[in-house]
Amino acid sequence: MALITKRVYGAEDVLPKDSYKWQFLEDVMRKEANTHGFKEIRTPVFEHTELFKRGVGDTTDVVQKEMYTFDTKGGTSITLRPEGTAGAARALLEHAIYNDGLPVKAYYFVSCYRYEKKQANRYREFHQYGMEVYGTSSPAADAEIITSAATLFERLGLQNLQLELNSIGCPTCRKEYHKALRAYFEQYKDQLCETCLSRLDRNPMRILDCKSSVCSKIAENAPTVLDYLCDDCKEHFQGVKGYLDACGISYVINPKIVRGLDYYTRTVFEFVTTQLGAQGTVCGGGRYDGLIEEIGGQHTPSLGFALGMERLLALMEAQGIEIPKPSGCDLYIAGLGEQAQKKAFAIIREIRQASLNAEGDIVGRSLRAQMKYADKIGAKFSMVLGDDEITNNKAVLKNMETGDKIDVPLDENFFQGFFSAYVEADQAKLLQKMDM
Ligand code: HAM
Repeated sequence: MALITKRVYGAEDVLPKDSYKWQFLEDVMRKEANTHGFKEIRTPVFEHTELFKRGVGDTTDVVQKEMYTFDTKGGTSITLRPEGTAGAARALLEHAIYNDGLPVKAYYFVSCYRYEKKQANRYREFHQYGMEVYGTSSPAADAEIITSAATLFERLGLQNLQLELNSIGCPTCRKEYHKALRAYFEQYKDQLCETCLSRLDRNPMRILDCKSSVCSKIAENAPTVLDYLCDDCKEHFQGVKGYLDACGISYVINPKIVRGLDYYTRTVFEFVTTQLGAQGTVCGGGRYDGLIEEIGGQHTPSLGFALGMERLLALMEAQGIEIPKPSGCDLYIAGLGEQAQKKAFAIIREIRQASLNAEGDIVGRSLRAQMKYADKIGAKFSMVLGDDEITNNKAVLKNMETGDKIDVPLDENFFQGFFSAYVEADQAKLLQKMDM
């Protein structure tokens, strides 16, 4: 039979055999976020299109070329979120979360949608973990958001992830910079792509992250923003670097980083690797002091970052970092005959109530097929229950790895017998590991 359809191009399934990796990362991230005082925010997968046009910026590649936008039956324009920052900021305002005391610190796990050209490590549906801080312009906050990402990468055992840092100034210095960019790009007007031509007047900085090979070649020699920073922005950038130096976080200044989204001001940063081919940016973020005002709030200087979960996992794999597998089936009970099967069913329930993982037959397999299945799912112990075991009120536990057999009573002492076999097996393994 032919499959009627496959997954949508650019989207991936996370299969049961791999989902523990995502869960492990999410657990570590939640714990890290907690130690930094962040609380989780969950926002809808879609927002009114206007939010992204205004927030992310209507001259960005994301808004101009990549959004999944559609009209609802009622005629409202809706967009699947291309990123998490705008939705979280909208929620901050809508629910007046800023009244809970500033700074507000929020983290999120979101699926994002961008109609981009699919490549290795670039998807049309991808997942981000992000952290956002609202209500502070202090350079200490910039350093804190950067160190929280760096600490997470350290905790995961990642190496050779380089932190690249830049400042893209405020609206005041941006005016001068835009003038310089316009003057530069005017010389190449006949070579720029259509989209960049339209950006020349409104937002020439966006030409710097155009993905067309001609435009990016021209952009290589464009003036860099660091040369146009006003005194306040220079001082702020010095402050951020000072805090990073104080805790030994190494970075390189990359004046070419402008990020692809319009809301950024002052500090911008990326964690990059050479191990993921062309899609080497694992994490990106920065300060966005004007976003909250742009979408209808009071002036609220804010900042954050997001990292791509798929890229992080790919990098961990490339670096041979093993993610611990969750413990599997502790005991498989094979029941033979109606009465024994019911007894097995009841014992399995009790074992699960004790928070251990027990499995039994819910298919109607033969004993041989059941034992094969127990082996396949990596059961630690197995136990066969038939008429004899029920009559004698005892059974045999088999250690599936060593083949050792242990008698256990099938009465109220069953648990004691099972737990001591379990502990003994673990101890034996540990001693073996320690070569004793
Ligand atoms: P971004 O740089 O567009 O920033 O995305 C952040 C991360 O998401 C990237 O570094 C990358 O790891 C991952 N990513 C982006 N696009 C794709 C894709 N097509 N396939 C796979 N992974 C991808 C933002 O989205 C900002 N909202 C970050 C931020 C939060 N800035 C301040 N707060």
